Amino acid sequence: MHKLSGKRIFSGIQPTGIPHIGNYLGAIRHWVELQNANECLFCLVDMHAITVWQEPHLLKTQIIEQTAVLMACGIDPKKHILFNQSAVHAHARLAWIFNCVSRVGWMNRMTQFKDKAGKNREAYSAGLYVYPNLMAADILVYQATYVPVGEDQRQHIELTNDIAQKFNHDYKVDFFREVKGVIPEISARVMNLRDGSKKMSKSDPSEQGRITLLDTDDDIALKIRKAKSDAEPLPFEKNELDRRLEAKNLISMYSVLAQQPIENVLKDFGGKGFAALKLALTDIVIEIISPIRKETHHLLNDSQYILNILRSGAEKASAIANPIIEKVESLVGYVK
Ligand code: TYM
Repeated sequence: MHKLSGKRIFSGIQPTGIPHIGNYLGAIRHWVELQNANECLFCLVDMHAITVWQEPHLLKTQIIEQTAVLMACGIDPKKHILFNQSAVHAHARLAWIFNCVSRVGWMNRMTQFKDKAGKNREAYSAGLYVYPNLMAADILVYQATYVPVGEDQRQHIELTNDIAQKFNHDYKVDFFREVKGVIPEISARVMNLRDGSKKMSKSDPSEQGRITLLDTDDDIALKIRKAKSDAEPLPFEKNELDRRLEAKNLISMYSVLAQQPIENVLKDFGGKGFAALKLALTDIVIEIISPIRKETHHLLNDSQYILNILRSGAEKASAIANPIIEKVESLVGYVK
């Protein structure tokens, strides 16, 4: 599916909860595939996580748990690099420089901040406001060129390129190259099962709208059975899905997981009610998630092993990032 090879790939995930099927379809499954022919760095972005309040003991558990989930999904920390952001100080050092390159006007245009902070923006952390600058630093501190993410990160990737260009321009260098987002065509934005107009999210207070990668088979069956539907039969035509948000979401998930084009899925399910689709989707989601859940629980029996993976990942990541940040800091004019 991915024709990329020989590239340096970077991507990240916030350890703020158990990854869900949206994270899986939008990002993680592509990370797994990209490992075949590229050099990959996958990062648990704990510094991004604390831009909103995290209970310290929970953050720690979630970092370990999420690392196990990623490994259970097929991320290979022996061949690639799996680590947590705060353990590689180069991220913070470059982020500070980028805070000074990036413009307040650019931050004001970031839709994620607006969505998260809403009308109450004065009460949110300054860290949440400059979140995208840290994200640019995550990618560019490795001079990575491809970033597999879901649709919601597109604007952040564009900002990364704006920062890279302005840095090159301000310091009269050709140091940072263009970064490309790798965004899937289908299921780049998996929606909440209870509300097809809302993105599926780790931080939604209700668990009913998301299927996590640690849900039991029964949880999965129940959540899909209770997923919002509408009264009409499923359509035969793809363009009809645009006004049927819930149908579009379920059909899209099924299409990706069953590896069938949407047109074929509509040939099978068009004219029928939601029930048949929901049953088929349940089977296929369980087929994917059940082994991930079991392997995660197995890995979590030895949390020291997971911590060692992260430590060695951070060492490997630092070895790449340190010469790059040193060079950037010298371009900026710091005295060493
Ligand atoms: P996060 O933790 O929100 O999500 C991790 C990845 O999952 C994708 N994703 C989704 N894809 C489809 N449907 C959904 N409902 C859905 N929800 C999330 C996200 O697009 C993402 O790819 N800012 C990032 C983390 C980050 C990062 C980076 C990513 C920090 N630094 C550098 C790439 C490069 C975030 O909050 O992801």
